[in-house]
Amino acid sequence: MLEKITDRIYYMMNRDETDRPVLGLVIGDDCCLIVDAGNSPKQAQEFKMELDKMDLPPVKYLVVTHHHWDHTFGLTEWDLVSIANHKTSEYMNVYREIKYDDSSLELAKEQGIFNDFSIKCIKAEITGRENFIPGNVDLSFDGELTIDLGGITCEVRQVVSPHTDDSSLLYIPEEKTLFLGDSVYGQTIQGYNHFDDQLLFPLIDLIEEYDAEHYVCSHESVCSREEIVSYWEQLKTGFDIANTCSSLEEGLVENKKQFDTEPSDDDIFFMKSFGLR
Ligand SMILES: [Fe+2]
Repeated sequence: MLEKITDRIYYMMNRDETDRPVLGLVIGDDCCLIVDAGNSPKQAQEFKMELDKMDLPPVKYLVVTHHHWDHTFGLTEWDLVSIANHKTSEYMNVYREIKYDDSSLELAKEQGIFNDFSIKCIKAEITGRENFIPGNVDLSFDGELTIDLGGITCEVRQVVSPHTDDSSLLYIPEEKTLFLGDSVYGQTIQGYNHFDDQLLFPLIDLIEEYDAEHYVCSHESVCSREEIVSYWEQLKTGFDIANTCSSLEEGLVENKKQFDTEPSDDDIFFMKSFGLR
């Protein structure tokens, strides 16, 4: 069963073991739109089975939030008008140029295309890897795109984020819902999560311009307004402490001094993400 956000927006929960992201469903009067393709034909099939149980207008569009494999490898399963920004489509072509048997995946790791965790998940999720060719989208856009689903609209906006430079946000104003994809996450560099503050904080400012109550992060499920604001505050605290302290040890002391409590795992994660070691 899908989880409900509003009468017109549902989602399938993420599953961390094999890096399955949230998949979204936006229901218009005339047609429906899917957010992200799934990390595999298998995830896409499971989502489709849930859609089949619902009495929906025709499912017509699929929008990809960014190129990463876990959001796009399910694309071959969908027979919809698929959409992404130009950069995402370009990056997706890289995935189409490589092979997915064991030795090719090892080669892709050496080239920096996948890490160990991704390879483990791809092996678990993709059947018939020897013949697997990831799909690409039908339509690409630059900047912004508005899709009318009948009585409800989906505003897609290309942004640069600390996660990738090809992220798209999806905003459904009538439902005050914003799909963030992975845009507010960092990226793994040399085994550590890294946040580029020059990209992160302008993105947060931009996100704050949206009148939203529901925020869908691809690997966290749904956040309320309060939860997303709390996330921004944690990020800001991590950044401020990382900027005033010269080591993680010093940062831990400073955090404890400011909040009069032991730093949480998240606090430590954010301090590290802004460079403290
Ligand atoms: Fe991602």
